[in-house]
Amino acid sequence: MRIFLHNNSRAKSILSSAWGVLALILLGIAMFSLKAKSQVKLDAEGHQWWQHAVFYEIYPRSFADTNNNGIGDLNGITEKLDYLKDLGIDAIWITPCYPSPQVDFGYDVSNYENIDPMYGTLADFDRLASEAKKRNIRIIMDFVMNHTSDQHAWFKESRSSRDNPKRDWYIWRDGKGAGRPPNNWLSTFGGSAWKFDPTTGQWYYHFFYPEQPDLNWRNPEVEKAMFNVTRWWYERGVAGFRLDAVDTLFEDPDLHNNPVLPGKNQYGDPNMQNLYNTKLPELHSVLQRLRQVADKYDAVLIGETWTKDIDELKQYYGEHSNELQMPMDFLFTRVDKLSAPEFRKQIAGVNSAGWPVYVLSNHDIVRAYVRYGDGVHNDAIAKLMAGLYLTLRGTPIMYYGEEIGMTNNDPKRREDVKDPIGRLGWPKEKGRDGERTPMQWNTSANAGFSQTKPWLPVPASYKTHNVATELKDPDSILNFYRRVLALRQQDRALRDGDYVALNENDANVLSYLRRYKDEAVLVVLNMSSSPQKVSFDLQAQGLTASKAATMLSTGKAKGASVSLQSISLDPFAVYIGKVGP
Ligand code: GLC
Repeated sequence: MRIFLHNNSRAKSILSSAWGVLALILLGIAMFSLKAKSQVKLDAEGHQWWQHAVFYEIYPRSFADTNNNGIGDLNGITEKLDYLKDLGIDAIWITPCYPSPQVDFGYDVSNYENIDPMYGTLADFDRLASEAKKRNIRIIMDFVMNHTSDQHAWFKESRSSRDNPKRDWYIWRDGKGAGRPPNNWLSTFGGSAWKFDPTTGQWYYHFFYPEQPDLNWRNPEVEKAMFNVTRWWYERGVAGFRLDAVDTLFEDPDLHNNPVLPGKNQYGDPNMQNLYNTKLPELHSVLQRLRQVADKYDAVLIGETWTKDIDELKQYYGEHSNELQMPMDFLFTRVDKLSAPEFRKQIAGVNSAGWPVYVLSNHDIVRAYVRYGDGVHNDAIAKLMAGLYLTLRGTPIMYYGEEIGMTNNDPKRREDVKDPIGRLGWPKEKGRDGERTPMQWNTSANAGFSQTKPWLPVPASYKTHNVATELKDPDSILNFYRRVLALRQQDRALRDGDYVALNENDANVLSYLRRYKDEAVLVVLNMSSSPQKVSFDLQAQGLTASKAATMLSTGKAKGASVSLQSISLDPFAVYIGKVGP
């Protein structure tokens, strides 16, 4: 005791060094476990695998049918892996292929940890995964997190009684009297977002179809169960998820009515601002925690993020880049016309937000071939759009069939419509069948998709726009895609380079450089229907070369090199060339 008293300072220093050692040990353990937790791998540029990958969305019902029941299957995807590899695809996103009553064609999941028999078995999935791995193609699954099917065991339990342990896994509320739902919220697929359930005399909430009850993400058990679903698939070799409908995960617990806007929508419901049932701030903490799980597997999270502006998009990356690595920029799809100034503005915006993720269309959006096409130059315009989004800094997600110029094939009669929203909203809303038709493989019956009548009709364009025919034609859309994707793979600047906008006042021609150290690639896109002549002064970029070496070009500018003083472009032409220092 005395010693201690006398040697107080020494004792203190002994003590503090003991604490110091302990602290070091604890720090070591913490760092070790942190390292053990995150498996994220970065390359020399600090990039993760998905930043260099080209993604390709597959709607499995419509890709390839190997058992000839008119509906595509997993074995069909496996069969076409070589095609995808040759095209230049690094990752496929498969839209839901889990067991499902198929009310929303798979987006109503009744079991998250299996494959619907119509698509195959888990063994088929494992074979697909291992064949894909051999070809360096990663698999991304669709994670339908906002809702399950009403046939999911969880919901069956939840609806069985008010005191069932799963009751609070969904959103149940009392109505406002006989036949009157709890509030004015509307389903985005038409009608009230509430459905009365006579078994327990309460209403449940569904942002989509009544057969898609919303999960209650405020319940930690829901989070745990759903996060475990992602782990289950990661362990099976999946490289990430596309998160369905993330905007709608949370609702105001006090159920405030949404503001009603003037006019009616395609279903005859009043227009409404979804103020209290979409994009609630709570969803960001769920995404942060989901990301922590993903990071343990070096996996990617892609978001179906319908944002109104760049600021909203930015939030999905997370304040510390700790939410979605790839929130899709749907604002890009809303530049629904060929407009150099509009695209320029959008590209600059998304570049400032985070790593850009570009899409032209998907299973919910009218195909790009018709959205941008003018009816006369559609093939040239399809190449122009590919020349745009496949050469930008960022990650592109292609939609199956886009690479061969597949068109929308909208139903002509209400009785032919398969997508329920098309039947409800006819004729204003024709549904999404048109963009989901079978992949066009060749000129044989049913475009080579199936030997039997497919679930949706193949458009007449399959005779000219199909894989087999286009592979033989050097000027086809398909061969253009293959060339651009090959350039992306080979060229450092196209892969890693910065985006530098050029000639920013040009109303017709969108031009930019992809710049990596002293390498540069020039991309010039004529977005107009008239011939254009452009010139570039790249002194400000530290480039003194007077010529570009042609890498890929449609239209006039065909030579091995062109003068930067004057590049002539046919209507809708693409020019891509290398510029030396
Ligand atoms: C997403 C899907 C769409 C589906 C909806 C409900 O928007 O892309 O196809 O109908 O979610 O799950």
